[in-house]
Amino acid sequence: MALAEEAKRRAAWAAVDAHVQNNHILGIGSGSTVVHAVNRLATRVKGENLDITCIPTSFQARQLILQNGLTLSDLDRHPELDVAIDGADEVDSDLNLIKGGGGCLAQEKIVAACAKCLIIIADYRKKSKSLGEQWKKGIPIEVIPMAYRPVVRTLTKRLGGAAELRMAVSKAGPVVTDNGNFLLDWRFDKVHKWDDVNIAIKMIPGVVETGLFINMAERAYFGMEDGSVSIQEKPAH
Ligand code: A5P
Repeated sequence: MALAEEAKRRAAWAAVDAHVQNNHILGIGSGSTVVHAVNRLATRVKGENLDITCIPTSFQARQLILQNGLTLSDLDRHPELDVAIDGADEVDSDLNLIKGGGGCLAQEKIVAACAKCLIIIADYRKKSKSLGEQWKKGIPIEVIPMAYRPVVRTLTKRLGGAAELRMAVSKAGPVVTDNGNFLLDWRFDKVHKWDDVNIAIKMIPGVVETGLFINMAERAYFGMEDGSVSIQEKPAH
């Protein structure tokens, strides 16, 4: 576990050092890897006297920004971002992602879509050839609470697999997202054409957002087991 944590730190620091510049409007992702990125960002902002404005992708990200004494803003004031830095649950060889393991996918996707460039930071366990190879919990899908059963029915009828309502730990009942919605985890039973599937899921009434981030990331930094950082670029095609 310590190895994975160190790998996250290396990836996060490498990305912050390579992509953050003075006067940037920066999207701050969610999850455990982003914690290292925000720590590094705070060190750089203080040490280099940088003027950086941070846009959070979750309640957790907002807290991280405030706890680290960074400048917090929002998409109303800054609808265009220079860079967004975020984690992922899995990254395939085309730089398509599964996100939402931590439940924050909708705001993450909105912020990423507003950024000129989405940079992913992850440890070696997230790197795969094809989605589903490493991440076995399924694709997270945020849904309006009253629609969760109809969405499960339609989703599994059209696309197969099985979908479960994500249940909370230390609270009775389902996980409630930062947006007051529920989450489904869809375990697919075959490799799909992910851009088509993403659109098909989004078209089901009641779906707010999917954890499929297709053709959005520009570059991924992976902290590897041997202590190196491996960089993967979006393929040219
Ligand atoms: C949050 O909902 C997710 O999309 C995270 O970005 C993803 O789960 C990666 O989190 P870790 O950095 O904790 O692995």
